[in-house]
Amino acid sequence: MYLSRFLSIHALWVTVSSVMQPYPLVWGHYDVCKTQIYTEEGKVWDYMACQPESTDMTKYLKVKLDPPDITCGDPPETFCAMGNPYMCNNECDASTPELAHPPELMFDFEGRHPSTFWQSATWKEYPKPLQVNITLSWSKTIELTDNIVITFESGRPDQMILEKSLDYGRTWQPYQYYATDCLDAFHMDPKSVKDLSQHTVLEIICTEEYSTGYTTNSKIIHFEIKDRFAFFAGPWLRNMASLYGQLDTTKKLRDFFTVTDLRIRLLRPAVGEIFVDELRLARYFYAISDIKVHGRCKCNLHATVCVYDNSKLTCECEHNTTGPDCGKCKKNYQGRPWSPGSYLPIPKGTANTCIPSISSIGNPPKFNRKWPNISSLEVSNPKQANVCDNELLHCQNGGTCHNNVRCLCPAAYTGILCEKLRCEEAGSCGPDSGQGAPPRGSPALLSLLAALLGTAGPLGI
Ligand SMILES: *[C@@H]1O[C@H](CO)[C@@H](O)[C@H](O)[C@H]1NC(C)=O
Ligand SMILES: *[C@@H]1O[C@H](CO)[C@@H](O)[C@H](O)[C@H]1NC(C)=O
Ligand SMILES: *[C@@H]1O[C@H](CO)[C@@H](O)[C@H](O)[C@H]1NC(C)=O
Repeated sequence: MYLSRFLSIHALWVTVSSVMQPYPLVWGHYDVCKTQIYTEEGKVWDYMACQPESTDMTKYLKVKLDPPDITCGDPPETFCAMGNPYMCNNECDASTPELAHPPELMFDFEGRHPSTFWQSATWKEYPKPLQVNITLSWSKTIELTDNIVITFESGRPDQMILEKSLDYGRTWQPYQYYATDCLDAFHMDPKSVKDLSQHTVLEIICTEEYSTGYTTNSKIIHFEIKDRFAFFAGPWLRNMASLYGQLDTTKKLRDFFTVTDLRIRLLRPAVGEIFVDELRLARYFYAISDIKVHGRCKCNLHATVCVYDNSKLTCECEHNTTGPDCGKCKKNYQGRPWSPGSYLPIPKGTANTCIPSISSIGNPPKFNRKWPNISSLEVSNPKQANVCDNELLHCQNGGTCHNNVRCLCPAAYTGILCEKLRCEEAGSCGPDSGQGAPPRGSPALLSLLAALLGTAGPLGI
């Protein structure tokens, strides 16, 4: 008697505390795959979507240079000082550690001065192009979560392409073009990420922003992941729920930020003037001091841990899934087709666990969830479009689901699932706007709980 009452209080507590979660604090974590909860039937596992933390991915990559002998110093050669083309007695010598510039130095710790860097041979074979491919391979699908940042020690190249592969290097797609003159180099109009929008976020652009040549002090090239996220999550990425909702429903968008390999194609070194100075070709070379790549293992929302073992990354799969990306159901757990976890409904998502095979449990439960495409990217398929329902895709904040195709939101809210505050989107949320308070447990539920626990008044939240 006492025990069953205790359990039902717990069940209620679980309900109340999940209703009371002040969303913005828990959005975008997805850092547990399961928790134990108390229900009428006792302790049971509750499964949810989960993903590994975002981390510095350069610790886990293999780097390959093409041509393989393009690193300077074998045989030793002299080059001109960066910034002073008339001082041409610097030496690169692969056999002397202090004068060598091997590729590993692009990924070492850059806290010290002078910085350490990889350097190519000089352009002594001009006019034959000086071209280098730097290929970074993870042998694992990873999801980028922050800007790719390349810091040059030399001037930034006049022409460069960043490419990506999603199939372990078999095929390559351009990610972004970089040039001092986009029209001349790639027959593309120069653009900046700021010219893009939610609708054109997947467009591949050529930018002149990072190629101002030999003389400027800026040495950094970005591939702007965060600016692209901001089209969905707002300028300070506060509305990650909206981003996750979009990633969940739009495979093309998710794939855009997913890679197994990256390739930096250096096509023409910084010249800085109109003509190449043929008398001082030792001025022209590439040197890179640092490459930053932040991301997480792609585990299809079925794991929080990604282990690096035998120089290979592998997800530690939960939810009875298996494979390097948790991309299939374990043996004897194929009672319904495998499905990735889902970020929706916010904030805990849906685990979509694999369930025991038919032979071991009789009839499989029905399972036909299909995530819709989002029309803002014009890939909508109206036949299967379930934007909301009363099952898993709940409209948030009092919104109601209209014909499964859209949430009708209360005036103060917006977003696919009414998950964002309208004032937040407009940047006008004030302390007195009366809209800033996250949803709380209903007063009735709270007082019921208070009565059961024998406490007076509402609980501190
Ligand atoms: C670099 O890779 C591209 C394919 O991504 C290839 O076409 C090109 O020949 C390579 N360049 C060098 C210098 O290896
Ligand atoms: C996975 O299978 C184990 C038994 O092997 C079971 O105890 C567990 O509850 C299952 N987990 C999920 C998420 O279905
Ligand atoms: C999403 O759109 C793409 C391209 O239009 C289509 O191939 C895919 O099947 C669609 N997926 C869903 C779940 O509707």
